[in-house]
Amino acid sequence: MSAFERDGLLQRGRELYTRNLRPGERVYGEELVREGSDEFRRWDPWRSKLAAYLTNGASRLPFDHPRRVLYLGAAHGTTLSHLSDLLPDSELFAIEKSASTFGTLLGLSRRRANLFPILADAQLPERYAADVGPVDFLYQDLAQRNQAEVFLENASSCLVRDGSGMLMLKVRSVTQRKPTAAVVADTRELLTRQGWSVVDQRALGPFSRDHVALVLRRT
Ligand SMILES: C[S@@+](CC[C@H](N)C(=O)[O-])C[C@H]1O[C@@H](n2cnc3c(N)ncnc32)[C@H](O)[C@@H]1O
Repeated sequence: MSAFERDGLLQRGRELYTRNLRPGERVYGEELVREGSDEFRRWDPWRSKLAAYLTNGASRLPFDHPRRVLYLGAAHGTTLSHLSDLLPDSELFAIEKSASTFGTLLGLSRRRANLFPILADAQLPERYAADVGPVDFLYQDLAQRNQAEVFLENASSCLVRDGSGMLMLKVRSVTQRKPTAAVVADTRELLTRQGWSVVDQRALGPFSRDHVALVLRRT
């Protein structure tokens, strides 16, 4: 089987792995494998939309070594843990509003020095913007009706001018009444009107049906 590793991301056939920042430790029961002298954690596209994005043909990660990242909707930290592997020298601020989920996130951050979880509502960035400070990359994975607006608010509060972002759009949370293509087109139009361009768009099925990934840059 062909194996290819770059910047901590290992590809073996269609399977993805990230170099484990905490060798010997699993985060969500994932497989651990050795490649050369390093240990890698399997990155499951059924559990992580960013892995689904890459598995579905994206040629690269949606960022270039951001020093500071704001992650909205971190849940138990599944995807966040892989970003933590990939960006060991960066600071990753993770917003999560569910107190029950937050406990797991807090536990994860105690074992990984690059994670900074914040219990907050991503619709109210003014409550945490001062703690987070300016970030270079904004990642959002929230099932909410006003997903694009939340992304824009957070970008204007926390993202540097030449920063970029990724919106994991859950189409059916926006509306049940329009077809997917129309919801995506409306979202793109709103983002474009606010000065953003979509540099990549990718459906995440079959891993996360009803989700479309948008990679965004300010124009
Ligand atoms: C689909 S899950 C995220 C999965 C996670 N991104 C991953 O890949 O590992 C969505 C999460 O967003 C959180 N969430 C939803 N609305 C939110 C809001 N307004 N502010 C902060 N978190 C929110 C939910 O509690 C849930 O944990």
